[in-house]
Amino acid sequence: MRKILVTSALPYANGPIHIGHLVEYIQTDIWVRFQKMQGHQCYYCCADDTHGTPIMLRAEKEGLTPEALIDRVWHEHKADFDGFLVGFDNYYSTNTDETRHYAEDIYTKLRARGLIEERTIEQFFDPVKAMFLPDRFIKGECPKCHAKDQYGDSCEACGTTYQPTELIEPYSAVSGAAPERRESVHHFFTLGRCADFLHDWVKPPQVQPEAGNKLNEWLDSGLTDWDISRDAPYFGFEIPDAPGKYFYVWLDAPIGYMGSFRHLCEREGLDFDAFWDRQRAAEAGTELYHFVGKDILYFHALFWPAELEHSGYRTPTAVFAHGFLTVDGQKMSKSRGTFITASSYLKHLKPEYLRYYFAAKLGGGIEDIDLSLDDFVARVNSDLIGKYVNIASRSAGFLVKRFGGELVAVADQRIVQRVAQGADEIAAFYEAREYGKALRKIMALAAEVNGYTDEEKPWEMAKQEGRDAQLQLVCSVLINCFRLLTIYLKPVMPELAAGVAKFLNVDGFQWADGRTLLPAGHKINKYKHLATRIEPKQIEALLEDNKVNMEAADSGHSQARHAEKQQHEAEAATVVEPIMETIGIEDFNKIDLRVARIVDANPVQGADKLVQLTLDLGGEQRNVFAGIKPAYDPETLKGKLTVMAANLAPRKMRFGVSEGMVLAAGPGGQDLFILSPDEGAQPGMRVK
Ligand code: MSP
Ligand code: ZN
Repeated sequence: MRKILVTSALPYANGPIHIGHLVEYIQTDIWVRFQKMQGHQCYYCCADDTHGTPIMLRAEKEGLTPEALIDRVWHEHKADFDGFLVGFDNYYSTNTDETRHYAEDIYTKLRARGLIEERTIEQFFDPVKAMFLPDRFIKGECPKCHAKDQYGDSCEACGTTYQPTELIEPYSAVSGAAPERRESVHHFFTLGRCADFLHDWVKPPQVQPEAGNKLNEWLDSGLTDWDISRDAPYFGFEIPDAPGKYFYVWLDAPIGYMGSFRHLCEREGLDFDAFWDRQRAAEAGTELYHFVGKDILYFHALFWPAELEHSGYRTPTAVFAHGFLTVDGQKMSKSRGTFITASSYLKHLKPEYLRYYFAAKLGGGIEDIDLSLDDFVARVNSDLIGKYVNIASRSAGFLVKRFGGELVAVADQRIVQRVAQGADEIAAFYEAREYGKALRKIMALAAEVNGYTDEEKPWEMAKQEGRDAQLQLVCSVLINCFRLLTIYLKPVMPELAAGVAKFLNVDGFQWADGRTLLPAGHKINKYKHLATRIEPKQIEALLEDNKVNMEAADSGHSQARHAEKQQHEAEAATVVEPIMETIGIEDFNKIDLRVARIVDANPVQGADKLVQLTLDLGGEQRNVFAGIKPAYDPETLKGKLTVMAANLAPRKMRFGVSEGMVLAAGPGGQDLFILSPDEGAQPGMRVK
């Protein structure tokens, strides 16, 4: 049994949880549920990140104390997470005695090792508000493009980054006053002295390979010492030996992981040191994992391990970073209604649909993931309902009505064995956070089960006399397959799995339950509706709910700045290839060309040129690898119609099996042009 402590990043207590955040909490929760199903001892801790200037100012604006504000937000966040079935073992706050204790402890130990230095720095000061201003609270004219009202760190109009001191006519976003420059003594963590340790630490498996590249770039360009103090007024923990100075929010935020776990330990009698003390953790063999967004990798894979290492604590077993969420290929936007809050989603749709969709899109890497709303509806309806839920709805009725719900033995049935044999591969995918691959495998098995149903046709057996035994066998097979698939899906869809457990009249599902089948004589209950299809109008209503008019919109949400899409100019001098030798119409007709819709397109990790396409041929889906990456941004291909050769023999490639070929013209590289049919063509139509 492994002993594992898992965290997700602590969301700021100054705004609502949105579907971008949920990528992370859902990703983590699936992993934790999977570990628990394996029978491991696994704890999932998180908290609200409550300190800092933005929260202090927001409380003031709302006429509240910061404590009252963070208490209200805590309850909102907790309700959102509960709604999305994120099963924290403890959801706490950083504004607690436990977190204060470890913040002071770590600071004191770092200082004792000579790693804290005091330096005088010059900073903008708001003379009206009598406070030093963080970069975000200084605005002015962009020194480059002269756009007005830009933030102190970068321009939203032209993307330039700069120092706040470079802004033209700077003003305080708090009071509007012209800021003055003032000196102040700040405390620095001398990270530069931890470079050797970090060079060693920043590598797989502690960090993902792509993350490692980024981190090494930062390391190689030299680490600057880290300013960990802020002047009063500030909402945070006062530094023990420096009255009027406070720990910068990012100093105590990750320490909140310890605070939350400590609180859990007190409640459940667990041994804190076995997870955090360097020596004790090594002896106990405990593991520590942090799930974070790629935007906060710097904090988690450089500052945090350095702090822990030099204060006698254990370092993380690994930091798992993920990419950012886009909606229909674009940054979430309040004006388009795609800045979807968790609470608004829950008013319109089931949480498990989003869990399923995110899981289907998530891999172990740090690429961004896209919520394509059409694809979301299509996948839930066709995979989840069409392929999986249908297995139960098509078989349970006969069993209950005709056989009192009683099953017969099915262990010798080939399809049952097929589904049972998938368990290890699926488990390995979950462990590696390759949820997309896990779900693809599960849905491929579901498709096989549906193929079996279509061959056996239980609905015909039911009408024919003397075929009762056969009907009972087929339905028992289907129910057993459905049970196995439910076990595999449970980390993603825990509530649905609980409903299935009731219907199948079993206690629940552990992963190991997949090694056995329901025995002959076991009785299932009457089938109760498990899930419904999504109607497109539900999505429209959801977007409508989230639409905010432009003025208030999108300010302060400049987190993910997406690189401009590259435009490829097709001005290549075209060399006309000689025409090939003549063939007859029979030869031409051998190629089955079809109109196909590109329902999904993703870059292939480890292959510069390949795009993985999911093509819809009017019902049937195909996986095709196409060497078109230099010419197309995969994101722009989604939803397009194209033409494919549908009867080419499948080809095994390093990344998977390619089941066909899309047609494209041009010499290659950037000069490649995929074909598309004229308007009105439908997926599946034959091209002749
Ligand atoms: N408070 C800090 C984290 C401190 S951890 C010791 C913070 N908070 S946050 O609310 O801005 O973000 C919380 C997590 O959600 C981060 O890991 C962040 O990367 C993630 N996400 C926020 N928006 C996101 C998307 N649009 N897409 C994916 N993840 C996103 O950062
Ligand atoms: Zn600019």
